[in-house]
Amino acid sequence: MAKKLPKTGMRKGLTAYGDEGFSLFLRKAFIKAMGYTDDALDRPIIGITNTFSGFNACHRNVPELIEAVKRGVMLSGGLPVEFPTITLHESFAYPTSMYLRNLMAMDTEEMIRAQPVDAVVLIGGCDKTVPALLMGAASADVPSIMLVTGPMITGDHHGERLGACTDCRRMWGKFRANEIDEREINEIGAKLAPSAGTCMVMGTASTMALCTEALGMMLPGGACPPAVMAERIRHAEASGARAVSMSKEKLTPSKIMTPAAFENALQVLLAVGGSTNAIVHLTAMAGRLGIQLDLDAFDRMGRKTPVLVDLKPTGQGYMEDLYKAGGLSEILKQIKNLINLDVLTVTGRTLGENLAAAPASFPQQIVRSTKNPIFKGGSIAVLRGNLAPEGAIIKQAAMDPKLMKHEGRAVVFESLEDLANRIDDPKLDVTAKDILVCKNAGPRGAPGMPESGYLPIPKKLAQQGVKDMVRISDARMSGTAFGSIVLHVTPESALGGPLALVKNGDRILLDVAKRKLELKVSPAELAKRRKAWRKPAAKPEEKRGYRKLFMETVTQADKGCDFDFCMPKMTARAPRSRK
Ligand code: FES
Repeated sequence: MAKKLPKTGMRKGLTAYGDEGFSLFLRKAFIKAMGYTDDALDRPIIGITNTFSGFNACHRNVPELIEAVKRGVMLSGGLPVEFPTITLHESFAYPTSMYLRNLMAMDTEEMIRAQPVDAVVLIGGCDKTVPALLMGAASADVPSIMLVTGPMITGDHHGERLGACTDCRRMWGKFRANEIDEREINEIGAKLAPSAGTCMVMGTASTMALCTEALGMMLPGGACPPAVMAERIRHAEASGARAVSMSKEKLTPSKIMTPAAFENALQVLLAVGGSTNAIVHLTAMAGRLGIQLDLDAFDRMGRKTPVLVDLKPTGQGYMEDLYKAGGLSEILKQIKNLINLDVLTVTGRTLGENLAAAPASFPQQIVRSTKNPIFKGGSIAVLRGNLAPEGAIIKQAAMDPKLMKHEGRAVVFESLEDLANRIDDPKLDVTAKDILVCKNAGPRGAPGMPESGYLPIPKKLAQQGVKDMVRISDARMSGTAFGSIVLHVTPESALGGPLALVKNGDRILLDVAKRKLELKVSPAELAKRRKAWRKPAAKPEEKRGYRKLFMETVTQADKGCDFDFCMPKMTARAPRSRK
């Protein structure tokens, strides 16, 4: 009797023709058309996700990285095969890239599952692509290693360093306030994104890259080298080589992405003063493995974890500075006592072993010690109260400290459209002490929970020099933004959450130290308003296709905005409760 061969490589996931021998014969006949020899086809097959697109400048270097990954795979005796997945760029995804993240995750999961790959190198970088790839890989649970495209290098304008997108917003704010003219803002526009790669401040892409390295899903030192550096290409080659070994070791994401590993990623998110978006993405990634992220335990962690990294928008530097300062290993060394060092990583070794092998430290200004932090408290605080019973968040490290405790009158916008139509109206009844509130910008309301929580300062106030105000919405915010901005209010207003009941002139109290967000309206009045509230009618485009799937199954921010049917039963929690 013929010996049964293991179901790896070309024998894996055979197309269902009812005759496995024929399925393999046919598969080999077709792949021969690519010019492969039998020797090549008998090797471990390493899939490489090709997320290049002419619309995605953050992934401009993907073709170069794929070549390097292929080299690494072949030097280690594997057969590299690239395949396309959806790609998403922040500025080229209508209505917002978050609306499409789950589609990319599903595409990645099913393509990994459908094709005969023994391991996968996931190439991503721009904000939503890294979580989407890792969500898909976690669900498929095939050995996977993350490779990011790397940050851009900085630009320069009249002697001042510039970078996307903290400076995009800062400069646009100056333009709105008439501090710079149209000619200059256009000149600046050509300098904000000067190379291939992802936004080079501590935005979502940089945060997710660092969190992924801390999670153990990336080779050490992979988060920070800029996209244009030779080290980025060497890292790609090493990732390809390592993927071959991972395929033999059957080192799957579920062995690496454990509650303790997510706790490390959350610790790093706090220490780097990272993007608020990372909370939603890490929640969704963990959720794919049945791990529930506990927002209150995260908040408790924050009280013990200062912000150590001096990068915009919280500080002053850029990712290339963090790279030169030693990258993630330098941060981990500073918070070693808060990190679970015994977790497994893609190297096959523990995070602690990786750290012990990291280059030696040297004097530098970017990664501070815990005794001399950039910001003492946790960078992100979790708020609760009658306005956000299931939670809301604020990036306290990037807000005006004078607004940490603030009570003001609500100036309400019913939707993003209403906001766009009225925010700059000279007749708008608004002062700097008021609180701007925007409804219907959450996961279902917008839909897709766009990064519109950074409500613009009304033009007439901006021209008076107002730089910050308290702003509240159920939207998200770009990690590159700065301000006293309450985000992810849950449940969202489109589902009838308390945010839907706020009216012009209501008093709202924000108290970050006490983690409070209160609508100062009596319970009787709120009950009356709730009775009168009507769910917005479904729009025609919500009745078919992906939009219908999205509207019917997307979860709230505290569940990661994943589709409910993609999440298994939650069986574990992260971070583990720390009192
Ligand atoms: Fe791609 Fe910022 S737009 S990372």
